[in-house]
Amino acid sequence: MKGCRFFRQKGVHDRMGELTGLFRPGSLAVIGASRARGKIGNAIMRNIIESGYQGKIYPINPKEKEIEGLTSYPSIGAVPGDVDMAVISVPASKVLVAAGECGEKGVKALTVITAGFKETGKEGLDLEKKLLKTCHCYGMQMLGPNCVGLLDTHTPINASFAATFPIKGDIAFLSQSGAILLAILDWSSAAGLGFSKVVSLGNKADLSEIDFIQDAANDPYTRVILCYIEDIVDGARFLEVAGQAARKKPVIVLKSGVSQAGAQAASSHTGALAGSDLAYTTAFAQCGIIRARSMTELFDLAMAFSKSVIPAGNRVAIVTNSGGPGIIATDNVEQKGLAMARFDKKTIEDMRANLPQEAGIYNPVDVLGDAGVERFEFALEKVMIDPNVDSVLFLLCPTAVTRPVEISQALIRVRDAHPDKPVFAAYTGGKCLAEGVEILSSAGIPCFTFPEPAIECIRGLYNYSLYRRGAETAENGVSVKPDKKTVKAVFYDVIKDRRLTLMGSEAAEVASAYGIPAAPVILTTNPEEAVAAAGELGYPVVLKVASPKIMHKTDVGGVKIGIQTPEEVRLAFIEIMESVHRYLPKVIIYGIEVQKMMPKGTELIVGMTRDVQFGPLIAFGLGGIYVNLFKDVAFRLADGLTGTRQIEEMLTETKAYTLLRGYRGESPRDIAAVVDVIRRTARLVTDFPEINEIDINPLFAYEKGLSALDIKITIS
Ligand code: ACO
Repeated sequence: MKGCRFFRQKGVHDRMGELTGLFRPGSLAVIGASRARGKIGNAIMRNIIESGYQGKIYPINPKEKEIEGLTSYPSIGAVPGDVDMAVISVPASKVLVAAGECGEKGVKALTVITAGFKETGKEGLDLEKKLLKTCHCYGMQMLGPNCVGLLDTHTPINASFAATFPIKGDIAFLSQSGAILLAILDWSSAAGLGFSKVVSLGNKADLSEIDFIQDAANDPYTRVILCYIEDIVDGARFLEVAGQAARKKPVIVLKSGVSQAGAQAASSHTGALAGSDLAYTTAFAQCGIIRARSMTELFDLAMAFSKSVIPAGNRVAIVTNSGGPGIIATDNVEQKGLAMARFDKKTIEDMRANLPQEAGIYNPVDVLGDAGVERFEFALEKVMIDPNVDSVLFLLCPTAVTRPVEISQALIRVRDAHPDKPVFAAYTGGKCLAEGVEILSSAGIPCFTFPEPAIECIRGLYNYSLYRRGAETAENGVSVKPDKKTVKAVFYDVIKDRRLTLMGSEAAEVASAYGIPAAPVILTTNPEEAVAAAGELGYPVVLKVASPKIMHKTDVGGVKIGIQTPEEVRLAFIEIMESVHRYLPKVIIYGIEVQKMMPKGTELIVGMTRDVQFGPLIAFGLGGIYVNLFKDVAFRLADGLTGTRQIEEMLTETKAYTLLRGYRGESPRDIAAVVDVIRRTARLVTDFPEINEIDINPLFAYEKGLSALDIKITIS
């Protein structure tokens, strides 16, 4: 790389968020441009020209003088002017040289279409690394390799070999799969879906979804960001960028390939509860990313967010001309956590006065099968102006007297008169309703065949509105003042001792250093020390075997509770030692831990498991021995888990919360103290990335205060 000017490390441009060279190049070259119809190098040339791209286009081909009516150059070095972007479509063996020549020419960005890189194995990976190095060396950004290219309808530019150029619109679509992208482009025109940008991410050697999400967040022409992703390489950065983007506009992600391999092997309760998909669900929800579960859902949501306004609340009104779909939709509204609106008195009176006696005047409103356009329009207008309604779902079935075209026009009139409320439709039928569906689609009212996807969209919009509201009113987190020195010292001793699991007394010390109320524990090595410790702590006490190798102490007779006197302490010490030696003759025992016996409280668990992608996840739920049976837990990313309301919301997702508030006449527990322990645990695991897992189980909750009885900490 003779003229290599500077080294750009991957990620430098990430922070700049500038992808002008790719989306708005003043000039571009196609390396591997071809006259031969049917070749990718020809398709790209024609796509660029046909897209209406206004900049200079330089075909590069060693043999040709002219391609698609434009002067062709034998090499990029021979091009007379500057070149901002080069699309490379030559075989893999020639890409490296071509990229080097682009670097020499001062090209800002590359789009490498060519396949045959890391997706093919070791040799391909090596080639990709060299290509990336060339890009870094010359300060070039790179999309791909192994991609379809990119399209921007507003520039306009179509630097891809896609068969279709989409309708101009406001959705930015980023796809890791070229095939899915091509299929969607073809389908989108018929579906009336418009795109601002479409990017095929390919192997993501340099630029990834993170860069394009950031770019789309700042793009004035983009209203919705849509991603199909198979893997996320830098989880933390992804969350940071996608989270910032989600505060500005909806980010909808379909993440495929969620497998067990993504989840870390877990030895703790918390780890076992987390499972592989949970980290994604938690992380996405926490930073406001809307998660689609299927391709259909991805595009339904895209349509909803692109065409609809955001509802003010979760109250849905349904207007229908048939009972069955109305009932199905009502069930679905409630199953999805939305609410059927309770109409205002005035609405009900108006409906009663103007609709036939047999009509359903409460929600769902059934205008009956013989309804003419006026009756539909009347009912729609009334629910639209009802202050207790946040969004409207209109269901239509074809009868012999139904006039779908006129009805659709009436719905459009009502929507236009009240543009602040979202309106969705489900026209359940086929040929009879097709024209009506088309009219709605072109007027921007999302229309489905069945009610469920429409309700799913309303839910997506509503959840996003909650996130936006939460983000706007985000409180400043409460800070924790920890004693890091003590924790460091404990970990130092543990590592020196060639262990990864802390003993109970060590774990209690770590917890206490962070203000987590651990029940006091003293490690003793003989019966007399144990008696002295019990005297210091105060009776009654509990004795537990201390050995990093014994995970389930009760199973080997390693725990004695309710010890009241020095004699009982001596006896318990000897009995525990004998029992453990009998079960596990070779196990190393560090001694016996004496712990103050705490009064029984509501049993909770607070824990942490570390996800390889997104870092530490904090769990809260019902504790005790049935924790894995009931699986009553909520998770949050530890990073930034400081706000009281944020943590309280986490608590409300569990049944344990009902107990904490005082179940069946029981007095309420100290919820503020629980919130505080969660906050402190989150801070502890964020401060010490070497902590692998934590289980605080049981954590006893009292009317006043808490007590962490058993704390397990493993480090790496
Ligand atoms: N500079 C400029 N032009 C050159 C150079 C060079 N150094 N070397 C060769 N060329 C010309 C060739 O002469 C040829 O032009 P011609 O048609 O006038 O002869 C043109 O560049 C292309 O070179 P070919 O050797 O003919 O290569 P071909 O077009 O067959 O294949 C391609 C190139 C398309 C990049 C191929 O290697 C490839 O990777 N195909 C797969 C692409 C792909 O699938 N990408 C992933 C998308 S994801 C998805 O689709 C689902």
